[in-house]
Amino acid sequence: MTNQVFSDIAVCIFDAYGTLFDVHSAVGRGGAPLGEKAPGVSDLWRQKQLEYTWLRSLMGAHVDFWQVTCDGLDFALEAHGVENNALRDELMQLYLTLDAYREVPAMLQTLKDGDMKTGILSNGSPKMLDAAVASAGIAGNLDAVLSVEDVGIFKPAPSVYQLVLDRFGVEAGEVCFMSSNAWDAAAAGHFGFNVAWVNRFNKTTERIPEKPRAVIQNLAELPPLLGL
Ligand code: LAC
Repeated sequence: MTNQVFSDIAVCIFDAYGTLFDVHSAVGRGGAPLGEKAPGVSDLWRQKQLEYTWLRSLMGAHVDFWQVTCDGLDFALEAHGVENNALRDELMQLYLTLDAYREVPAMLQTLKDGDMKTGILSNGSPKMLDAAVASAGIAGNLDAVLSVEDVGIFKPAPSVYQLVLDRFGVEAGEVCFMSSNAWDAAAAGHFGFNVAWVNRFNKTTERIPEKPRAVIQNLAELPPLLGL
């Protein structure tokens, strides 16, 4: 039994990719033509997608997450010696309907039953997020789906985390933020959110400020941390 860690929380905010949605489910479903290269392509796709968000934010050269995701996939395919435009297009389409992690719907229902406000804060473009949320059937238990497109820069820019405060009219200390991405969890904590790092993949703690207040393996462990 997990003990309550967070109190006086008004809003629970979730990162999308890797946290609610399994980014490897695109290659998992459509990557058969890649054969044994599939896991390497999927890992490099995700790595380059994230690197391009950070690089473009530093460069002041923003494009939306759909473009960055496309560019990351193109890099990963070329790096693995794969030239297959039909496969590339298919994998991009699958990114719109990624699998939600299996505990997500029931966890959101528990939060709503406890009168918690809920939302997503993601690098994803509104079109990508709307598609993923609809495909997972979780729209009814989300009060807001917030995209970095409203500020034109990617995480971990503080102006992204500020979107939550502006939307819900709360202080940072009233927000509980969940991400499986250790760097996102750290940055959200640095901004002032109460953070639970969803360490699904037993990753090493990042050496950047701030430490998460809680570390969980999956989102089924969240409600007890909130006393729900
Ligand atoms: C997101 C990325 C960081 O959804 O996974 O914002």
